[in-house]
Amino acid sequence: MQSTINILGVAGSMRADSYSTKALKIVLEFAKKYGTEIRLLDLSKTVLTLRDPSMPVSWQVEEVAKIVVGADAFILASPDYHGSMSGTLKNFLDHFFKEFGGKLFGFIVASHEKGLTAMDQMRTVMRQCYAWSMPYGMSVNGEQDFANGQLINTEVYMRLEMLARDLVVYSRLIREQFARDLESSEPSTFAAHYRTLLKPV
Ligand SMILES: Cc1cc2nc3c(=O)[nH]c(=O)nc-3n(C[C@H](O)[C@H](O)[C@H](O)COP(=O)(O)O)c2cc1C
Repeated sequence: MQSTINILGVAGSMRADSYSTKALKIVLEFAKKYGTEIRLLDLSKTVLTLRDPSMPVSWQVEEVAKIVVGADAFILASPDYHGSMSGTLKNFLDHFFKEFGGKLFGFIVASHEKGLTAMDQMRTVMRQCYAWSMPYGMSVNGEQDFANGQLINTEVYMRLEMLARDLVVYSRLIREQFARDLESSEPSTFAAHYRTLLKPV
């Protein structure tokens, strides 16, 4: 039997009726079909303090950290703000580092212009955190792809299902290999670094 994958969807828009959040929810629903536990962290509802490295971590961030640690894969959803991700999403990412290492990330951007630069910047952040990125992302163009709050673009709908399927399949492979590398004593692996980094204190 295949192991259960925990997927955390992170909604980075503060806007009510956000298109990126709607698309994220569709992917999470699809992911359920592939043997996953899904969880949504909506940053408009769980409003995190701004990251200040000189301050102690708040109880709220500690709670979110438990969810982040338990996730095997992530889907980050953001509006395209000036060609980048939202400050809300970036602030979430700024709270973590080693917790992301070795995990797989998928990306959704709500944009009028495909959101490619926003997605590139999300990938850059994840690379800095030694995480894996899906080789493609999803963009939704709110006013064109949605009507009365519902997704009406069938092509986008099918690609959202593809993202869910691929994220589950590839995150399972990555997680299993990462776990094997963590347990082995082989020195020259990417995961070797995490043997001490992820050790509970
Ligand atoms: C501050 C700000 C900057 C924006 N910059 C861009 C942009 O550079 N390119 C773009 O296509 N849309 C831009 N938009 C439009 C949003 O990306 C678009 O409305 C999107 O659907 C919002 O996502 P959401 O529905 O998930 O909140 C911007 C909107 C705001 C408020």
